[in-house]
Amino acid sequence: MAARGPFKTPPPSLPPHPAGAQGEAAEPPSSAADAPHGLGASRRSVIPAFEVMQITGEVERRRAEGRDIVSLCAGEPSARPAPGMLKPAGYTSPLGTAPLREAIAGHYANWYGVSIDPARVAVTTGSSGAFQLVFLAAFDPGDRVALASPGYPAYRNILRSLGVDVIEIPTGSETRYQPTPALLDAAVEAHGPLAGLIVASPANPTGSMLSRAELSALVEWCAEQRVRLISDEIYHGITYAEAGGPDARGVSAVELDPEAIAINSFSKYWGMTGWRLGWAVLPESLIAPMEALASNFALSPPAPAQELALGAFSEERYAERDAVVAGFARARALILDAEPALRWGESAPSDGAFYFYADLGPQLERFGDSLGYARALLDGADVAVVPGVDFDPMHGTRTVRLSYAAGEAAVEEALSRILRFQAPGG
Ligand SMILES: Cc1ncc(COP(=O)(O)O)c(C=O)c1O
Repeated sequence: MAARGPFKTPPPSLPPHPAGAQGEAAEPPSSAADAPHGLGASRRSVIPAFEVMQITGEVERRRAEGRDIVSLCAGEPSARPAPGMLKPAGYTSPLGTAPLREAIAGHYANWYGVSIDPARVAVTTGSSGAFQLVFLAAFDPGDRVALASPGYPAYRNILRSLGVDVIEIPTGSETRYQPTPALLDAAVEAHGPLAGLIVASPANPTGSMLSRAELSALVEWCAEQRVRLISDEIYHGITYAEAGGPDARGVSAVELDPEAIAINSFSKYWGMTGWRLGWAVLPESLIAPMEALASNFALSPPAPAQELALGAFSEERYAERDAVVAGFARARALILDAEPALRWGESAPSDGAFYFYADLGPQLERFGDSLGYARALLDGADVAVVPGVDFDPMHGTRTVRLSYAAGEAAVEEALSRILRFQAPGG
């Protein structure tokens, strides 16, 4: 394994990138043979770390040990903005501060009963930052990565921008809008071997969740097929199963397999979207590549946000956020109660997140497609809903997504406007 940490010489010569015509399977990296499941890091992630950031991390560690380090190292002015104007904040270690990585590891012990080495936690600029770095670390151009459709569009867009071949798996009510081993077998049959699978539970836009047994089956399939599993767990905690019940907050893929990657964020459960802070829990083999990538791409995650986020894991904060989720639950109930009156088509199981995703059914006869419906609703009733086209390139012209994160009052008002708007002559 390449030397890690500061003051180490980066790999002297970079291995060539794969010729990588789109769709052509890249050869596995040479380190793959030694790694569990045979899954090594991508060739593109074998780049020298930004040494300054490595040293900054080391300085931080030593200062935490009480040593008086004078750093002539980082390219940042030591004179900070006047206090009161901006909070003083410098770069941190590329994968985040040690206290925050420890606090996140503690969150896994608390919620999932799983012990995670804080070194496996990479703090990132939102989960969006985690996707970029994880996809870079895990996949090479031309690799095939599968994901469910409908799904969060950034997965597919980021992957495509990186030259990864995206395999969309059409899902519907038969599999509760989630991939299954049978659907994955069919995808391999149709397209060839996969390098990765992205799952989300609860998912955006459907809200659908994977049970422990369903996620386990996918984990097993991925291990057998040597497919990297990436699990977007950003909506964990925003769930509507009986509170305190088993797996009520969601099942983390890293409970089931330390080779899986879990991605999460402070944006949703904690409502800290603008602070741009998320994280990934990595397998051992990807820690060094992620550190190299993070130190070049982002230098470090935002320092003030990391400091603030340390307060996220107290019992008081969980209780406060659970009360917010209870509000989402009431807003969700309003929509589910109104469903028959809406006279739409089939809806996805809204197990978690704050989304209701449905086929417009009979409304399509009047409005043509979901874009026409959304436009007419906005024009005619001042209600904004999202047409499904972003989430599902194939069937999204039939579907819409409602976010009930707006709260009970907004949802109640929107529903009465929608019903008035849809009424004959409305
Ligand atoms: C499923 C899913 N994953 C990830 C994100 C990105 O969130 P952030 O970058 O704020 O962590 C979102 C945002 O809407 C999302 O819906």
